[in-house]
Amino acid sequence: MGEIMTSVELTALQAAQSDAVAAAVRAAIAVHGGWLPFEDYLRLVLYAPGLGYYSAGSVKFGAAGDFVTAPELSSLFAHCVANQCAQVLAITGGDVLELGAGTGSLAAGVLTRLAVLGQLPRRYLILEVSAELRARQRQALSALAPALAARVEWLDVLPAVPIAGVMIANEVADALPFQRFVIDGAAAYERGVGLSADGQLIDADRPASPVLLAELARLAPQGWPPHYESELCPMLSPWMAVVAQALAHGVLLLIDYGLPRHEYYHWQRDRGTLRCHFRHRAHDDPLLYPGVQDVTAWVDFTRVAEAGCEAGLEVTGFCTQAAFLLANGIEAEVAAADDAVARARLAAQARVLLLPGEMGERFKVMALTRGFDEPMRAFALQDLRRSL
Ligand SMILES: C[S@@+](CC[C@H](N)C(=O)[O-])C[C@H]1O[C@@H](n2cnc3c(N)ncnc32)[C@H](O)[C@@H]1O
Repeated sequence: MGEIMTSVELTALQAAQSDAVAAAVRAAIAVHGGWLPFEDYLRLVLYAPGLGYYSAGSVKFGAAGDFVTAPELSSLFAHCVANQCAQVLAITGGDVLELGAGTGSLAAGVLTRLAVLGQLPRRYLILEVSAELRARQRQALSALAPALAARVEWLDVLPAVPIAGVMIANEVADALPFQRFVIDGAAAYERGVGLSADGQLIDADRPASPVLLAELARLAPQGWPPHYESELCPMLSPWMAVVAQALAHGVLLLIDYGLPRHEYYHWQRDRGTLRCHFRHRAHDDPLLYPGVQDVTAWVDFTRVAEAGCEAGLEVTGFCTQAAFLLANGIEAEVAAADDAVARARLAAQARVLLLPGEMGERFKVMALTRGFDEPMRAFALQDLRRSL
C-alpha cells in the first residue's frame, strides 16, 4: 500500500487516450456540480465505449500488457475449471456461460478439455461488455476445431430463458465499479473525484450520504477505527440479481482475489484494497493515467454470499484457489505432461497458481448454486464457508 508510481513513459497513443478520458472525466465532474462519485469515475475510465480501459484497444493481459490472470498464465487453470464443469454438466446437461471472458483463453481451454472428457456443453456462451475484448475472443476461438468453435455464442445481454449448467466469472467481480469511503474520527466521507484549481483530477471527499452511513454501520457494527479508508461494491447485489436470474439449474463459479468481510475490513487494512495495474506495476493512485491503467478492488466474499442468497442462490462452497485446483486434479495435469521439459514448465506455472505468496490464497473460489445438491469436487479439500 502507499506505493508511489514512478513515472512510466506512455506511448503517444496511450497519452492521447488518457487525455481524451481525462477530458471526459472533467466534463462529467462539471455535469455533477464539481464532484463525481468514484463509481461513476470508474464507469468512465474502465468502460466508456471506445475510450475506457476495457473498451479501448490496449493489450491489458499477458507479458506485453498490464497484468496476468490465471487462464493467461497457464492452461492448467482452464483444465481444472473444466474438470469441475464436467462434474456439474454430467448432472445438469446444458450450457457453460462465461462472464467477462478476457482474451478467450479460459473458454478455449475449458472447451478443449471438456471435449477430451466427453462432456461438451450444448453451447459455450460468452457475455463480454467490452467490444474490443469480444473481437479478440472471436479471433482466439476461431482457431479451435470447428466442432468446438461452433458451440461458442456471444451474448449482448444475459439469456432471457435461464440456462442449466455452469456460469464462470473469473476476475469479473473485482472489475465492477466500486465506492470509496474514508473514516476520520467520528466523521465518515465518500471519496469521489474533483478538480484542483489548475484543473488536475484530485481525490475529493464529501460527507457520507445516509445510505452510505447505514451501510458502514452494517459492515462494522462494532465501529470503525478512527482513521480508515476502504472500498465497497454496492453494484454487486444488482449484478448478482441479474446473473442469478439467468441460472435455472446449476452452478455459478465465482473466482477472484478477495476475503471474507471480517478480514476485508480488518483494522490493519486501513488503506483499503484498491489496486491499479499498469505494465505489471501495482500502485494505488487511480487518478493516474485515466483510461490506460486497470483499477480494481478486492472482493468482499461475504457480500458475494449475501448477494447470492438475496438472489435465491445457495452458497455451496468457498475455498482458496489452491484448494480448488488441487481438488480438481492439478497435480495429475502436471504429471501428464508429454515430456520432462513440458512437465517442468507446467510445474513452475502450478507453483504460481498454488503458492500462498502468489495466487494460491489471495484468490478464492465460491460456488453459488440453484437446485444443485451434489457435493462438488472443488470443495473436497477445504470448506471456508464458516469464515463468511
Ligand atoms: C480482469 S478481466 C478478467 C478477464 C478473464 N476472465 C480472465 O480471467 O482473464 C475482467 C473482465 O470482465 C469484463 N467485465 C467487466 N464487467 C462485466 C460485466 N458486468 N459483465 C460481463 N463482463 C464484464 C471485462 O470486460 C473483462 O473481460
